[in-house]
Amino acid sequence: MTTEYAPPASTFFPQPRLARGATARAPRVADPNASTIMATACHEIRTPVAALHATVEVLSDHATLSPADIGELVGRLQRSLTWLESMVENLTTSAMAETGDMPLLLRAVSAVECIEAAVMVIEPLVVRRGQRIDLIEPADDVVIHGDSGKITQVLINLLMNACSYSPDGSVIEISVGAREEDVEVRVTDSGPGVASGEHLHIFNRYSRGRAGAGRAAGLGLGLHIVKELIELQGGSVGVERAPEGGASFWFTLQRAPGGSQAAAGHDGVTSKGRAAA
Ligand SMILES: Nc1ncnc2c1ncn2[C@@H]1O[C@H](COP(=O)(O)OP(=O)(O)OP(=O)(O)O)[C@@H](O)[C@H]1O
Ligand SMILES: [Mg+2]
Repeated sequence: MTTEYAPPASTFFPQPRLARGATARAPRVADPNASTIMATACHEIRTPVAALHATVEVLSDHATLSPADIGELVGRLQRSLTWLESMVENLTTSAMAETGDMPLLLRAVSAVECIEAAVMVIEPLVVRRGQRIDLIEPADDVVIHGDSGKITQVLINLLMNACSYSPDGSVIEISVGAREEDVEVRVTDSGPGVASGEHLHIFNRYSRGRAGAGRAAGLGLGLHIVKELIELQGGSVGVERAPEGGASFWFTLQRAPGGSQAAAGHDGVTSKGRAAA
């Protein structure tokens, strides 16, 4: 069998939680130059590509494989592709954000539809870890004024982190809360949580924290993309410690005028650059 890339369970053990006042290894607050970034990105991309090659090579000899082996190998391909796609997507978005040229398609979008699209992408990784995603939604669908593709990308990054940094078999909760003016979406896990003080830098580009340092893979780009994309749409983001100790990442976005899904698709506006909040 081939080695597998994409959230290797063995490198995703939760980090021991620090007692208040205890000292931790200093988190890496990265400020790399362009060639370091390029070298890291190439390394991160080469690894899943090598795993894809190796898996395809084993699959090419399918006459000797059992259906169960083939199913397992196809699962590996799916997970490596999910990981690779999200990394390339984040690198592309990061480059676009840097030049300030980010097209936005703002319209009335269903919060639940964005969540379902993100869950579908992340599913192979969650299944592999024996985890479960629970969605807590209000009785009526909540409609956001935003860009559905970008909201989905935000959710993929938050879910990927929740999956990566929480234990096997744990539950990840997504909740949607509608307020008068805006909508709050929250992704809560039961991992180690964000260490004290880390909330100040983990949304910066190329910044990784203790949980991230515990595993090899990762560029420290995911949360930066989350913040960029949400602020671009006039919203805000943050993180809190969940009551049971995990991390609870949230974002808010404006509610669509009228708040009904019937409006979806009829008020499209394409804008470039940073949208006015
Ligand atoms: N759910 C979480 N629980 C605990 N720590 C988290 C969680 N999400 C993010 N972090 C911390 O924040 C850091 C930054 O996260 P971010 O998603 O930006 O980068 P990454 O996951 O390290 O790499 P990348 O997303 O580029 O693959 C992580 O390295 C980790 O230390
Ligand atoms: Mg991440």
